[in-house]
Amino acid sequence: MTDSNKNLHLILRLWHEYISPYRYKIILAFAFMVVYSITTGAVVKFLEPVVDDVFKNEDLNMLQWLSAGVLITFIIKGLSSYGQGILLNDIGQSIIADLQNKIFEKIARADIAFFSQNKTGRLISFSTYHITMIRNLIAQIITSLGKDSLTLFVLVGLMFYQDYKLASVALIVLPFSIIPLSKTGRKMRKISGSTQSETGDWVSYLTQVFQGIKIVKSYNMESTEEHRAKTYIDTLKQYAIKSGRAKASVSPIMETLGGLAIVIIIGYGGWQVIKGYNTAGAFFSFIAALLMTYEPMKKLANLHTNLQEGLTAAKDVFSILDHQKAIQNKPGATELYLPAGEIKFENVSFSYDDQPTLTNLSFTIPAKKHVALVGPSGAGKSTLFNLLLRFYDPQQGDIQIDGQSITDVTIESLRHNIALVSQDVVLFHGSIRENICYGSPEATDQKIQQAIQKSACDEFIKNLPQGLETQIGERGLKLSGGQKQRISIARAFLKNAPILLLDEATSSLDSSSEKIIQNALANLTENRTTLTIAHRLSTVKGADQILVFDQGRLVQKGPHKQLIATKGLYQNLCALQFNSQS
Ligand SMILES: Nc1ncnc2c1ncn2[C@@H]1O[C@H](COP(=O)(O)OP(=O)(O)OP(=O)(O)O)[C@@H](O)[C@H]1O
Ligand SMILES: [Mg+2]
Repeated sequence: MTDSNKNLHLILRLWHEYISPYRYKIILAFAFMVVYSITTGAVVKFLEPVVDDVFKNEDLNMLQWLSAGVLITFIIKGLSSYGQGILLNDIGQSIIADLQNKIFEKIARADIAFFSQNKTGRLISFSTYHITMIRNLIAQIITSLGKDSLTLFVLVGLMFYQDYKLASVALIVLPFSIIPLSKTGRKMRKISGSTQSETGDWVSYLTQVFQGIKIVKSYNMESTEEHRAKTYIDTLKQYAIKSGRAKASVSPIMETLGGLAIVIIIGYGGWQVIKGYNTAGAFFSFIAALLMTYEPMKKLANLHTNLQEGLTAAKDVFSILDHQKAIQNKPGATELYLPAGEIKFENVSFSYDDQPTLTNLSFTIPAKKHVALVGPSGAGKSTLFNLLLRFYDPQQGDIQIDGQSITDVTIESLRHNIALVSQDVVLFHGSIRENICYGSPEATDQKIQQAIQKSACDEFIKNLPQGLETQIGERGLKLSGGQKQRISIARAFLKNAPILLLDEATSSLDSSSEKIIQNALANLTENRTTLTIAHRLSTVKGADQILVFDQGRLVQKGPHKQLIATKGLYQNLCALQFNSQS
């Protein structure tokens, strides 16, 4: 497809999917634009009697009529301009809101892998920067198709009506403007592509620095970061300057061509008036029409250049909207039926990219048992949880819960039955209550209180002046690491799912809170299948079974007593930890 075909394709797609639902408003806006163009033509036409009847023939009566006529025309022109203006704004904003909703929905529902492939900043810029560009694109398309084209049509029509020969001469210069304009358009497309990706990087960078501000400060990295920021800012400035220059380069060409047209007209038209072939009024009116084509002509000429930014943004946004999820419900997927809660891995192999992360894993986690996963950092323990929740699908093998392959059941029902306390605690802006109830909005006060007690949250919550309603800063900035962790455990307690996944859930806790939680977990694990990942081996001693992983393989399994008595990785890990503690 050529560039202009692609552009047309993009615009048609925007029209079909986003603009056409507002077609009635657009038709109304067009109606206003028609009125606007006609009044513009009328203003020009009024010049003819002004010169011929008022100035030359000194017709006083005509002067009164003309004054009234001009005033009314301008009022109508103003009103129609207002009408189309607000309609266009309404349409533009509504389309943008629709697009933003679609983009957010698409991103929120995308696979986890999608988020490693796309920088956060890029994803943020889709809903901010790109959207603004697309709004401008849509406004420009509608205005140029409507107001500018119609006005031009009326004015050119008027010119031909006045004097078709003169009009043909005036328009002869037009084709000469095409080549430089399309060149500028291509340049703009390149610049706006770079600007958009740089803006994404810039937003990513800002997010990282502000989130990691404590590290930045403690390592005295402010100056380094200022320097890095300056590099981004400078690059963006260069692109903006380039784009401004490219846009401005259209003007000298258009001005020169416009001047040329006017020189020709004054020469030829003036000669006609002098020779008496035409009246001065008709000539003035013609010149006025020609001059007034300048504005719409300029806008239409710039259209190709100005559209580029919006088109590049639209292309990017559509690529996100077209992104196909790899992890989806199979056709005919059923609800997960979970009478017991047995989990079975069969020959599961998985890699994030080329490097194998899990190799040929087969094991069964009996229903309602507490099983611990241990092993060195990077062994693949968290990855197992990722597979169980279908954040990723294994390349090989099958995972079953109570005999049903997790790929045969709906993702919603699978995740509904699993509560996860992840390795990195995530809290959202809002109150402690909102954070604990995240995912369980219908929880009763009694259930919330139970969850708070079991997770040892009550002790610190009761010391807060606003208790449960205390607002926590973004990402839980106002809470200690252990407090955040307890909130995330309370959230999992409240979900009360038959399968519980704890990934280093008690790693930030002091011994006394850990003790409370261990006891609570003991109650909690009683009636559900629990998988615990822990580095602190003292916390997993009591598990019914311990699975030991190393480099993506299951190397040992059994209860603590048995494993500690056997030579192997577990014994080594224990020796390291318990020796260093004693
Ligand atoms: N999103 C990802 N993309 C690519 N590789 C990843 C990703 N997440 C983890 N890995 C890699 O997979 C391997 C296993 O990671 P995993 O997080 O499962 O380890 P872990 O056993 O949980 O370690 P830890 O005890 O430190 O949490 C590591 O080598 C890691 O670098
Ligand atoms: Mg991990």
